[in-house]
Amino acid sequence: AVLNDLAVRAGLKYFGAALGEGAFQSDSTYASLLRDTAEFGQVVPENGMKWESTERTQGVFTYGSGDVSAKQAQQSGQVLRCHALVWHSQLPNWVSGGTWTVETLTAVMESHISNVMGHYKGQCYAWDVVNEAVGDDGNWRSTVFLDTFNGTGYLPVAFNLARAADPSAKLYYNDYNLEYNGDKTDRAVELVKLVQAAGAPIDGVGFQGHLLVAGTPSRSNLAAALQRFTALGVEVAFTELDIRHTSLPAPASAYATQGDDYANVVGACLDTPNCVGVTVWGVTDKYSWIPGTFEGQGDALLYDANFTRKAAWTSVSSVLAAS
Ligand code: G3I
Repeated sequence: AVLNDLAVRAGLKYFGAALGEGAFQSDSTYASLLRDTAEFGQVVPENGMKWESTERTQGVFTYGSGDVSAKQAQQSGQVLRCHALVWHSQLPNWVSGGTWTVETLTAVMESHISNVMGHYKGQCYAWDVVNEAVGDDGNWRSTVFLDTFNGTGYLPVAFNLARAADPSAKLYYNDYNLEYNGDKTDRAVELVKLVQAAGAPIDGVGFQGHLLVAGTPSRSNLAAALQRFTALGVEVAFTELDIRHTSLPAPASAYATQGDDYANVVGACLDTPNCVGVTVWGVTDKYSWIPGTFEGQGDALLYDANFTRKAAWTSVSSVLAAS
C-alpha cells in the first residue's frame, strides 16, 4: 500500500498533495501520480482558488484554474481542501491598494467569500478562510484588512461570512512557522480564542509546515504545538508540508536527515487526536515554489525530479505503517 492507504489505515482522514495547475496540465507523469488515490487521497489547488485567480477584477469571478482541482477531486473521489480566502498575498491591487472603510471592505469580503465559496459549495472538506494573519515576529501582520479594521475585527467577520456561504466546509486558520511553538504560535492561539470569544465559527488550524532539513522540531515538540490548538476544540492538519535543503547539492546524509524530519512531522500528527491529515506542498522536486523564493534551496518533496521515491518517502511510509 502507499501513502494515503497507509494514512487512512493509521486513522488519518487523508494524505494529500497540492495540485500545481501548470504541471498538472502539461506533464502526464505528474498528473497520473497526483490522480493515484492510493498515494494521494486529497488535493488542494496550489494557486487556482486564490483571490488573484478568482476575482482579479472587482466583481468578475473566474474559476477555470480552481476548477482543475475541484474536477480532479470529484473524478477520483479525493478530499478537496480549498485555499485561500482572506490573505495579503496574491491579492489583486484593487483590494490591497484600495481606499476602504470597515463597511466597504466588509462588502468586498462578503462578495468575494460568498461568490467563491458558493461556486465550490458542498465540495470543500475545508477552506483556509484566513491565511497568514500573524507576522514572523508574533505581531499581527499589517495588511489592508488589519489596517482598515484598525485591528483584528476582520477575523470574526471573515469566519462568519464563510459559515454563511458554505455551512458544510470546515473553516480553517492557516499559517507557517507555528511549528516552532514560539511567539507566532502564541499569537495564533490568541487568534483562535478571539474568534471563538466573538461567537464566530472556527473549526481548524492548518500548520503549513514549510520546514528546513535539520531544522525541523522533534516529534514530541511538534505534537505539543498541535495540541495547544486541539485543546481549544479545533482540529489541526499539516497543510503545506515541504522540508527543504538550505544548500544544494546536498550530501546523501542530508537526504536521510530529511527523511527523519518528515517522519517527525507525520508522527506528530499521528500522536495528536484531531490531527486529520497531512498535505505535501507539491509532488516532485521537478516543480516547487522554493527555488524561486529561496535561491539555491529546495529538493524539499518526497519524489525527486525524475519521479523516484526519495528516502523521505520511505520514512513517511514507515512511520505510517508502524502506527
Ligand atoms: O500565473 C503566472 C503566469 O501567468 C506567469 O507567466 C508566471 C511568470 O512568473 O507567473 C505565474 O504566477 C505565479 C504563480 O505562482 C503560478 O505559478 C506567480 O508569479 C508566483 O508568485 C506564484 O507563486 C506561488 C506563491 O504561493 C505566491 O505567494 C506558488 O506557486 C505557491 O506555491 C505559493 O504557495 C504559498 C501558499 O499559497 C501559502 N503558504 C505559502 C506557500 C509558499 O509560498
